[in-house]
Amino acid sequence: MKIDVLTLFPAMFAGPLDESIVKRARKAGLLDLQIHNLRDCAHDRHKTVDDRPFGGGPGMLLKPEPIFEAVEKLARDNTRVILLSPSGRPFNQAVARELAQVEHLLLVSGHYEGFDERVREQLADDELSIGDYVLTNGALPAMVIIDAVTRLLPGALGDDDSAREESFSPGMAGLEYPQYTRPAEFRGMKVPEVLQSGNHAEIARWRAEQARLRTKERRPDLL
Ligand SMILES: C[S@@+](CC[C@H](N)C(=O)[O-])C[C@H]1O[C@@H](n2cnc3c(N)ncnc32)[C@H](O)[C@@H]1O
Repeated sequence: MKIDVLTLFPAMFAGPLDESIVKRARKAGLLDLQIHNLRDCAHDRHKTVDDRPFGGGPGMLLKPEPIFEAVEKLARDNTRVILLSPSGRPFNQAVARELAQVEHLLLVSGHYEGFDERVREQLADDELSIGDYVLTNGALPAMVIIDAVTRLLPGALGDDDSAREESFSPGMAGLEYPQYTRPAEFRGMKVPEVLQSGNHAEIARWRAEQARLRTKERRPDLL
């Protein structure tokens, strides 16, 4: 999979995507990730990427010209161009699974008050929000999406079953069941007997029931 990111803050991406599973996926060639500075497509003396909104109002908007130039340079026939915006459709695990099937993603990260509307109308195939709150720019949303999508690429996790049996996956009724590791008793707290029984059918039943109870209690909207 190839992911290009268009941003005003390339330096923000150093670190989070150079660790752990994303780092391994990049090294193994499962993910080709390129970060591009939107300012490289601004050609005036000051490399201007923003301007005041028509009609007045607070803040600045990203101008269309640099974004059109960058997207036209980077997009291919198989590219899904995604704007990051609080007005987008909510990003969740189902959307992550959908994106993991796409050959090429181009994530367009905003800043200031966001984008000139013509970017949305003409360039975007999709628009995603990572939650009902407003961040200063789209770098963190881009990294959240890259992380969630990368771990779903076949071979990215040590064991592909991990992604099948976790919260929000089709194999799970909502949230994941409680899990324990050794020691079997810690400060008087005991691991449930059933998990130590070796009876796989019983364990599966217990886990399904615990997942259902936890989901009902914490996230009934998922049931
Ligand atoms: C300060 S925000 C703009 C908010 C915009 N004026 C509004 O009211 O929706 C600047 C940029 O950060 C990114 N952003 C902020 N919050 C986001 C979220 N919840 N999901 C996705 N992107 C977000 C977007 O790229 C956005 O263009």
